[in-house]
Amino acid sequence: MDRHDLVRWLKVTGTAQGRRSARSAWRRRRADAVGLPRRGAERARVPGPALGAEPQPGGGVVRFARSSLRVRVAVGGAVFCGWDGAEPEPSYALAGPCPEADARAVLEPDTDGGWRVVSERLLVAVSRHGAVEVRTPGGLVLRRDLPPRWWEPVSGDSGGRAEGARGAETETGAGGADERGAPERGAGEGGASSVGARWVQRSEVAADARFFGLGGRASGPRLRDGSYRLWNTDPGGAVEPGDDPLYITMPVQLVVADAGTHLVFHDNPWDGRVRLREGEEGAGSGHDRPGTCELRMDGGPLRYWVVAGTPARVLHGWTALTGSPALPPRWALGHHHARWGFGSADEVRRVVAGYRERGLPLSAVHLDIDHFRDHRVFTVDTDRFPDLPGLAAELRADGVRLVSIIDPGVKAEPGEAVYDSGSAVGAFVRDARGREVRGVVWPGEAVFPDFTDPRVRKWWGELYAERLAQGFSGVWHDMNEPVSFAAFGEPTLPRSARHVLEGRGGDHREAHNVYALTMARAGYEGLRELRPQERPFLFSRSGWAGMQRYGGSWSGDLTTGWPGLRASLSLVMGLGLCGVPYSGPDTGGFTGSPSPELYLRWFQLASWFPLFRTHSAIWAGRREPWEFGPEVLEHAAGALRERERLMPYFETLARLAQLTGAPYVRPLWWSAPRDRALRDCEDAFLLGDALLVAPVLRRGGTRRAVRLPRGRWYDTTTGTAYEGPGQVLLDAPLSRIPVLARAGAVFPVTGPDGGVELEVWAPAPGRTGSGLVMAGGGDGWERPTLERFNSRLTDGRVVVERQGADEVGYPVRVRGAAGSP
Ligand code: GLC
Repeated sequence: MDRHDLVRWLKVTGTAQGRRSARSAWRRRRADAVGLPRRGAERARVPGPALGAEPQPGGGVVRFARSSLRVRVAVGGAVFCGWDGAEPEPSYALAGPCPEADARAVLEPDTDGGWRVVSERLLVAVSRHGAVEVRTPGGLVLRRDLPPRWWEPVSGDSGGRAEGARGAETETGAGGADERGAPERGAGEGGASSVGARWVQRSEVAADARFFGLGGRASGPRLRDGSYRLWNTDPGGAVEPGDDPLYITMPVQLVVADAGTHLVFHDNPWDGRVRLREGEEGAGSGHDRPGTCELRMDGGPLRYWVVAGTPARVLHGWTALTGSPALPPRWALGHHHARWGFGSADEVRRVVAGYRERGLPLSAVHLDIDHFRDHRVFTVDTDRFPDLPGLAAELRADGVRLVSIIDPGVKAEPGEAVYDSGSAVGAFVRDARGREVRGVVWPGEAVFPDFTDPRVRKWWGELYAERLAQGFSGVWHDMNEPVSFAAFGEPTLPRSARHVLEGRGGDHREAHNVYALTMARAGYEGLRELRPQERPFLFSRSGWAGMQRYGGSWSGDLTTGWPGLRASLSLVMGLGLCGVPYSGPDTGGFTGSPSPELYLRWFQLASWFPLFRTHSAIWAGRREPWEFGPEVLEHAAGALRERERLMPYFETLARLAQLTGAPYVRPLWWSAPRDRALRDCEDAFLLGDALLVAPVLRRGGTRRAVRLPRGRWYDTTTGTAYEGPGQVLLDAPLSRIPVLARAGAVFPVTGPDGGVELEVWAPAPGRTGSGLVMAGGGDGWERPTLERFNSRLTDGRVVVERQGADEVGYPVRVRGAAGSP
């Protein structure tokens, strides 16, 4: 029994909710015992020898004795590989129809009896046994996928009950077949199965490669040797770096090596596991040992995309495939204050007044489940919040928006409006026998909308009208892994629960990981419909590949402690590399009470993240900046003011993320993926192109080593210039964390008169610099123009020019050696 199980058991004893969750766990187990096809005898299969190939637009199909592989290069350079007839569509990840084939990419015989597809950016070589190598145009190998292996039900076997048995599988060893792996037969204890084949694919990458991504992982951003599960999970309240999986898992890996950077995405939402092992250069008798990745899936198609290039190109290609990140409204880039348990409208007023009286900027206040009537979604407890629209208007006059939590679980009670309207359209997930699946969440017994049904998405989206009428400006999706409290077993829906899956039909094994993604779609489309003039603000705890189309995320229930602080950096950076640029942690941690120092360091870090929000559990201590003594207040106020000053830069980064897929928060290797020291640096990040932020991540730290990418960097406080690449030791007194500006950088900030001005850091002698500005444009759909600026030194003076214009158009403030420090 681990920490989380123990907490669960303790909760069960005694409380009514606990007893409900025990009953629900039994129901779940019983439902799966009768409703899941059981895994009986299975037979292993590998592709076998190649028999021939036929060209098709963008590549072709290679036929093997026992499978086929389709390779298709899409316009834009992404490569699709689909085994066993798998096509790119249908897909929950892709933003639209599958991109056109690149007609210039053709399938041709390779010298060794295999085939290859040569495209502008990549060469894909398929060996005669079904290994697939992806190489750069220069011939460097980015990845080598060994022939996959499937385990599929032996047809004609008789049926049986699934309870407690997954059959005596005969698979052996590490799984992936070797290049020639002969098919093997496996026989379990009897039992028919209609479950699709399980499969495993083993891949090799360069010995120097580093792995990133896989969704939101607390122990990264560099993913070290280990096993990472692909099953969205609420670990139950107090997340630490060792907890895995968490709320957002994605079969998206970013692999960074000297040979190049590439992203591989297995488009399959089923439960699975990724086992990573970094390689070793000069291992055993001087030979390199490659890095390995083994992906095992419980079902679903074996199909994947590879996107290669510089990190910027890869993220651009990835968001071209899965959708541009939604652009948050401007106000969502300011500071948010949340709490589970404000308790009343007056308490909200008191907190907002606290910010105002101290001159602290505040953009939004979030109301958690305690403002609902008995925790029921789309209701208001009018005793505690007698006039929510009035409160919203009052706050709005002060420039503060209200954001509402929305949980998917609907109280299962006839007479409850949401339940009744949902039942009328058949909205709730059913079991294999056609009965509503009952689980337990905050309001007690609950049912769960099936967001994989377009009709249900429409119904749900329309419910957001109630939230808008209450005066809310944005929504916060929670508990959507989805969670159903369980005294034992997995705290989610039964795997046998039925889902519409856009009409194809299937069960929760396939729908689980896309539940939150489809809920986000329902909410986003609802808000667009209901309030077309404003960009929706939506962020979600769970999600999957493509979730950025609808909004961002936050780091969930991080434990209050230094490891939680570190995990927040890992989660924000990791998600950014999976195409989800907008996220941030519960500043100060979700649980307990941070020490003043920890609170301040967390606040200083989070103030550089896209979502900058303080939040905590109902039983946890306060999180207002003035609750930690005058010194913390003074320095937190400094961080808040700097955030305000940088708002035009954050707006620009949000626009650029939408246009290019580049996250605001980037690893230090973003522009120098071949710099191995940067690849291994996990304690600092780039904010856009201009700034490098080096948070303090340990207790008592007042000085820290900062690794610098190539070029000149200025400490933005002291103005001192440092030359990278290399490492410098910088002061990090309690008042601030080190932030450096790249020489030559040009970026927009708020000037003293409240308008936009350009901050320019002097280029190093003989060098030039540049920057992009895309600020203004409000909260609607109008798009400000993208302005490009260049900087250079002329006779020791810093000169800034706007491309294509005679005038710079903004006041300019020069900093760094050639300007004022
Ligand atoms: C979940 C959320 C947390 C929220 C709480 C109550 O634990 O992660 O942010 O405060 O539920 O709604």
